[in-house]
Amino acid sequence: MIVVTGATGNTGGELLRLLSATGVRVRALSRRPHEGPPLPGVEWMIADLGRADDLASSFAGAERLFLVTGNVDNLVRAQKNAIAAARDAGVRHVVKVSALGASDHSKSVIGLWHFIVETELKRSGLDWTILRPHVFMQNVLAQRDAIRSEHVVRSPAGDAAVPMIDTRDIAAVAAAALTEPGHAGKSYTLTGPAPIGWHEVAEILSDVLGVPIRYVPESEDDAWHRLHREGLPAWLIGAQLALAEYQRQGGGTGIVTDTVERVTGRAPRSFRDFALDHAAAFAPGSGPTT
Ligand SMILES: NC(=O)c1ccc[n+]([C@@H]2O[C@H](COP(=O)([O-])OP(=O)(O)OC[C@H]3O[C@@H](n4cnc5c(N)ncnc54)[C@H](OP(=O)(O)O)[C@@H]3O)[C@@H](O)[C@H]2O)c1
Repeated sequence: MIVVTGATGNTGGELLRLLSATGVRVRALSRRPHEGPPLPGVEWMIADLGRADDLASSFAGAERLFLVTGNVDNLVRAQKNAIAAARDAGVRHVVKVSALGASDHSKSVIGLWHFIVETELKRSGLDWTILRPHVFMQNVLAQRDAIRSEHVVRSPAGDAAVPMIDTRDIAAVAAAALTEPGHAGKSYTLTGPAPIGWHEVAEILSDVLGVPIRYVPESEDDAWHRLHREGLPAWLIGAQLALAEYQRQGGGTGIVTDTVERVTGRAPRSFRDFALDHAAAFAPGSGPTT
């Protein structure tokens, strides 16, 4: 049995669908399991990874764990709790979503936090696989209201181009790592098929939606105010602006890997594939996001 954390989120949600389709038994953890979709072979269970004392039953009977949380301020504590509870319950293998560039000198606090959890996992005695994905294409969905109503996308990343990845491809790699042999002790850097800049994002959206979408490069101040209005806490805005600055300065974030294709046997989705699959969400004239 495989425990999937972050099961209401981008990667966890897609992983559930993939595992359910293969007939593997899955336990999906969430703080709000009633919001999770019913799927064959998937048992939803309430769990807050921030509460170490309540986790024994969450992992009982599991052999493998998919570990992800959103960018929450207790990421390190929550993920360390999950690793400890999984080990106590007899889990053998943990597949963790980390981030590109996770290190003890990361430009963003999120990279540092992932590095701390990676280190804990490697010391745990459990088998591990670490997924280090690049920027998610799904981040663009956060701008769908502006795309629909103002016909613009915004970013503080200037002219930087990075090989964004579709979270469905991260989930496909995770599914392979959890169900096939040969992935223990591996760290995988995961990217999309090619670097893509924000001008190109706007061009592809224009083409797919049949409406001109414009890229508006943002100053750090403008990005700060937009992200604040979107409800992001100050520490997370600071982390995102640090990454954007690194990308603007040409930091080593343009490198493409072939890992998705090597592990899954299928090329990663392009941004055009992503835009076509989400055209309804971006289409001008459709209602605002609630
Ligand atoms: N966005 C990017 O460009 C990017 C790039 C590289 C790496 N990453 C990493 O990817 C991860 C995010 O992945 P994602 O987009 O799949 O996540 P997501 O959609 O943000 O969802 C994460 C899930 O985490 C769960 N969660 C948060 N706190 C929890 C807690 N205390 N106990 C139990 N569950 C908790 C939430 O589930 P419930 O609310 O249902 O409990 C939520 O559904 C982050 O670690 C981020 O650093 C992101």
